Amino acid sequence: MLEFNLLGQLPRCVREVKSRVATKEESRQLALKFGREYFDGTREQGYGGYHYDGRWSAIAKRAIEHWQLKPGDRVLDIGCAKGFFVKDLRDALPGLEVIGIDISDYALMSAHPDAQPHLLRASCDDLPFDDNSFRAVFAINTIHNLESERCLRALREIERVCPGGGFVQVDAYRTEAERTLFLDWMLTAKTFDTPAGWLKTFAAANYGGLYWWTILEHDDAAGT
Ligand SMILES: C[S@@+](CC[C@H](N)C(=O)[O-])C[C@H]1O[C@@H](n2cnc3c(N)ncnc32)[C@H](O)[C@@H]1O
Repeated sequence: MLEFNLLGQLPRCVREVKSRVATKEESRQLALKFGREYFDGTREQGYGGYHYDGRWSAIAKRAIEHWQLKPGDRVLDIGCAKGFFVKDLRDALPGLEVIGIDISDYALMSAHPDAQPHLLRASCDDLPFDDNSFRAVFAINTIHNLESERCLRALREIERVCPGGGFVQVDAYRTEAERTLFLDWMLTAKTFDTPAGWLKTFAAANYGGLYWWTILEHDDAAGT
């Protein structure tokens, strides 16, 4: 298990925490359906519009370089949403076999047309793939949406289909102030912890891949 900031090049986005707090519980119930409201509703309900803008292209190149991927290799994006990372990985390395899975019918139906044929509906805690069948598996801001037992199962599943080759990014906080900010902003996460707490979870699942944290810092939060 090693830290790896795969998404480090993405610009940080400012979050209007106060505006979300006002309608939090109602928005949370909607967001948890991972339907239209979560992806393409208001910012209070989720992404506030989840559109392809090419931002995953640099991440795809970094992943290909880090995992030393070659045409013919097979990789999986867990919680692929509308398949933007799947598309950019395929574009960055022709011949790379990329599969995306998600539980959201809405995201899969409204996925990027280049990615759509390579996406399927499945849950991260029950992967419909053989043992050791991928060179790399990415689960970016996805497994923390499951309750702790299922989250553990998801980590074991990643390790099963891609021993040592996984990458997970999960919600975390380091201080009480970050935890408060996170609780005010977060809509869908069901398992969250400090980095030290997550490391125990990774160890309990015998997860041997890479990991990084999504941490909401005070500078990212407008209106607080
Ligand atoms: C925060 S979004 C992240 C999307 C994408 N990975 C990204 O970083 O932009 C979380 C994604 O996880 C998906 N998801 C939630 N529960 C899931 C599950 N049990 N199995 C697979 N995907 C799930 C949601 O539908 C959503 O697309």
